[in-house]
Amino acid sequence: MNRLSSTLAGLLLLLGSQVQAESVESMLQEMAIIEKNTPLLQAAIEDGVERAQLCFRCHGDDGNSKRDYIPNLASQNAAYLFTQFEHFANGVRKDYVMSKLATALTKEDRINIALYFSQKPVVVREQPVAASSKGEQIYKTTCFVCHGNAGHGSSQYPRIAGQPYEYLTKTLMRFMHNDPDRKNSPMIGVVQNMDEQQLRDVASYIAHMP
Ligand code: HEC
Ligand code: HEC
Repeated sequence: MNRLSSTLAGLLLLLGSQVQAESVESMLQEMAIIEKNTPLLQAAIEDGVERAQLCFRCHGDDGNSKRDYIPNLASQNAAYLFTQFEHFANGVRKDYVMSKLATALTKEDRINIALYFSQKPVVVREQPVAASSKGEQIYKTTCFVCHGNAGHGSSQYPRIAGQPYEYLTKTLMRFMHNDPDRKNSPMIGVVQNMDEQQLRDVASYIAHMP
């Protein structure tokens, strides 16, 4: 290799490592710093609300979804929202619109939009079924371990409380059937030994959690 091409190779290696440094983890760290700093958070939310216009038609202006098959983004933890963009962008998770949108947004957009929706309160919605007490039992023996007693999740687990019943059942069925649109999820193991009725019961309970 001559001198020029070895310099070039070195440069490319350097660039490569910089691209790699923008791993999901480092972007999540960047977002966490913004989230803890009030002026930075306010600025991010102001930028986020503009880009989030793209989402309002389906997810609602305040992140409370307009249709029962669409999830709320309101009060969802920002790290989960951000990670889902990655999943839609790299094909781990598939949805016609979401997969296209996820690749069209810049890193800043994705951070700002996630922070914007995470700060919005969940509005109680009408659910098509009552909360089942069998569902409550399932929640309190299994699901609370990761999603928390109140279903509000954490920086590692999504909030599920108050999601539309239809979205919850559809999603739980997907996990049960190992649907490739939602592959590699830890939830596949969780619902493995449950039947459809149990999934409906627990979904009805979660849908009514405030
Ligand atoms: C045409 C309707 C539509 C638009 C517009 C749309 N979404 Fe979605 N979004 C959906 C649907 C439907 C799902 C559920 C996909 C599935 O079942 O996996 C979803 C899922 C998501 C999820 C995963 C939430 C979860 O609980 O797992 C996130 C995050 C998300 N959308 C963010 C956005 C953002 C941000 C925008 C705007 C940039 C946007 N969406 C625009 C329909 C839409
Ligand atoms: C071992 C930890 C763990 C347990 C226990 C667990 N979950 Fe989850 N759950 C996760 C993780 C992690 C995700 C997010 C990753 C993903 O969606 O694949 C998730 C995602 C979900 C989602 C999709 C959220 C969304 O917005 O799309 C639903 C619904 C859900 N869990 C319901 C349940 C129910 C019901 C139970 C109890 C029967 C349960 N979970 C138990 C870890 C867990």
